[in-house]
Amino acid sequence: MTSLLLRGRLLSFHRAPDSLSDRDSYFYEEDGGLLIEDGRIVKTGTYADVKVAADEDTQEIDHRPHLILPGLIDTHVHFPQMQVIASYAANLLEWLETYTFPEECRFVESAHAARIATHFYDEFLRQGTTTAVAYCSVHKASADAFFAEAMRRNMLMVGGKVMMDRNAPQGLLDTAQLGYDETRAVIEQWHGRGRNHVAITPRFAITSTPGQMSAAQALAQEFPDLHIQTHLSENHDEIRYTCELYPEATDYTDIYARYGLLGKKTLLGHAIHLSEREADVLSETGSVAVHCPTSNLFLGSGLFPLKALARREKPVRIGVATDIGGGSSYSMLKTMDEAYKIQQLLGERLNPLDSFYRMTRGNAEALSLVDRIGTLEEGTDADLVVLNASATPAMRLRMETVNTLPEELFLLQTLGDDRSVAETYVAGVAAKSGL
Ligand code: GUN
Ligand code: ZN
Repeated sequence: MTSLLLRGRLLSFHRAPDSLSDRDSYFYEEDGGLLIEDGRIVKTGTYADVKVAADEDTQEIDHRPHLILPGLIDTHVHFPQMQVIASYAANLLEWLETYTFPEECRFVESAHAARIATHFYDEFLRQGTTTAVAYCSVHKASADAFFAEAMRRNMLMVGGKVMMDRNAPQGLLDTAQLGYDETRAVIEQWHGRGRNHVAITPRFAITSTPGQMSAAQALAQEFPDLHIQTHLSENHDEIRYTCELYPEATDYTDIYARYGLLGKKTLLGHAIHLSEREADVLSETGSVAVHCPTSNLFLGSGLFPLKALARREKPVRIGVATDIGGGSSYSMLKTMDEAYKIQQLLGERLNPLDSFYRMTRGNAEALSLVDRIGTLEEGTDADLVVLNASATPAMRLRMETVNTLPEELFLLQTLGDDRSVAETYVAGVAAKSGL
């Protein structure tokens, strides 16, 4: 049995914080200890208490004065878009046609997919992100590369072979039957192997025929525990075109409802421009709207009303995500920095405790995986991030005037990036320093 004792300032959330002074919403231990055995947290508490519980030969690493948090979670990202990030386009549909679809065609080659998979995990570990929910390309080879590399690194990843059978280049199309067959093959080959979770992944209604939506529905019925991911209401032109393609539907959300694709395991990327009716449907079905702030700004898609959706009488479950390569940063810190600014533009406040809750426990709850990841609770997987709020000269200088934990978190969110990530642990193994 391998055991490891980490010492540092521990921070983990019990629930969403109501305000900056909501001290009951989180666990914070100034001189904390985490005992890790065989990839799991077996004891969390003060260093003194945890030290007593550890064997004599337990390896000890002292991360003071840094913070130790659960590993960050990204609930929407496109694995084949690492070489699309920073592409100059007027809007979503132009960006997809001009840059994204041609790039994804390259993932028919297993060697290319394997190469990008290596870079993908390296980059996420550099940023302190230990779990991501990814779209692969339409090619099964891309999902194979994605899951093989996740297994090699023992990371908990959610991913899916994209289903798309129209309105894209020929090299990027399957058919209703092929999308069904290959998704099934990916599920059989990868779901539950290592820490892998397979998601049913119809890209969005524009690129799936009604026949393919029915195929996705059949998969959802056969595998009711799997995540489902797609895109919803990102851009006004997209919404208009989508509704033309499905004239029988009441609105964009109703298309997914008609094919039985909404529910507690459903992740809807963007979901910016929802009507009250659509927000009610998401709330009633427990579906998750995934906020992708850097992407929504970069592509000019719109301002996601996070606070308004969260405080409705029928609240909408919300995840937060980078949406690489529409998004412009791999960092969840930068993602929440932009989320904060979007709420500012909407006249709302997003407090830093809430932001850090969302990057960790909040996203784990959005994925229904909080029993495994997103907290420092005993029995969960030891996926962790160690954050240094004095990582750069500018941060160090500003830290001189920081007095409280929320102030430190806000500094990390506003000025932090991969340089602030002192270490990332995957199932109890130091992974960033090993890159
Ligand atoms: N809608 C359908 N596909 C995509 C994609 O790859 N990125 C974004 N941002 N929106 C999409
Ligand atoms: Zn997306």
